[in-house]
Amino acid sequence: MIILKNGREIDAMRAAGAVASAVLHDVAAAVVPGITTRALDEFAAARIKNYGARSAFLNYQGYPCHMCISVNEEVVHGIAGDRRLEYGDIASLDVGVVYHDFIGDTACTVPVGGCDLRAQRLMDVTEQALHEGIAQAVAGNRVADISRAVQTFVEKNGFSVVREFVGHGVGRSMHEAPQVPNYVDGKPSPRLRAGMTIAIEPMVNAGGPAVKVLSDRWTVVTQDGQVSAHFEHTVLVTDGEPEILTCSAKMLSGHPQR
Ligand code: MF3
Ligand code: CO
Ligand code: CO
Repeated sequence: MIILKNGREIDAMRAAGAVASAVLHDVAAAVVPGITTRALDEFAAARIKNYGARSAFLNYQGYPCHMCISVNEEVVHGIAGDRRLEYGDIASLDVGVVYHDFIGDTACTVPVGGCDLRAQRLMDVTEQALHEGIAQAVAGNRVADISRAVQTFVEKNGFSVVREFVGHGVGRSMHEAPQVPNYVDGKPSPRLRAGMTIAIEPMVNAGGPAVKVLSDRWTVVTQDGQVSAHFEHTVLVTDGEPEILTCSAKMLSGHPQR
């Protein structure tokens, strides 16, 4: 069952989205060569607390960190530890917060200092694919219209979409119906309606689409060892333009202040 949000719930989703986005920007700005992923996770915990929120990820199905940090060939769900980020790495940062009972979920991939052109193009294509998907998040369309827009754009640019992990409805729970795949499979696809809030999140591999889970039982990596990127926004479906809820600019206008 897909949960439609009313006006009050949408306002709460705007606030949660603003906090998640602000934390993601804070963490992204802290990514420098030499920092450990654990230090970044601790910084994320402090920023989340600063905004009066809590991590939606910590203890989720036993997940041990406040945010997901996935480096290079790591796709999603990386676990923070002693690893030091190096110049030339790319780091996928995924932040989920609970704020006044609602969740904001947002991710981006950033270079550590700088990176090679192939990794930069991968990040650019993944971010653009997210926005191609968001543009289809309009009442009357189907979820598959989002999926198709993402997949078409990624494959046109010579990269591949991950199949095993998908976007999702989001609200009081992190993962609600519907699933929002980044590929089309021909199965019946739900109609989008105004008041749905969904996380659209292309995970894009520079090489092949295949992934595997490491023995830590969380970290997802590409099977071919090539780099991967991940961008995500929580989006409100309306009868008109989609509204990106994970937008820190909303901090400025009556939503949570520092
Ligand atoms: N944020 C992820 C998503 O976008 C879910 C992370 S689950 C965790 O759906 F357990 F790894 F935190
Ligand atoms: Co996420
Ligand atoms: Co998500």
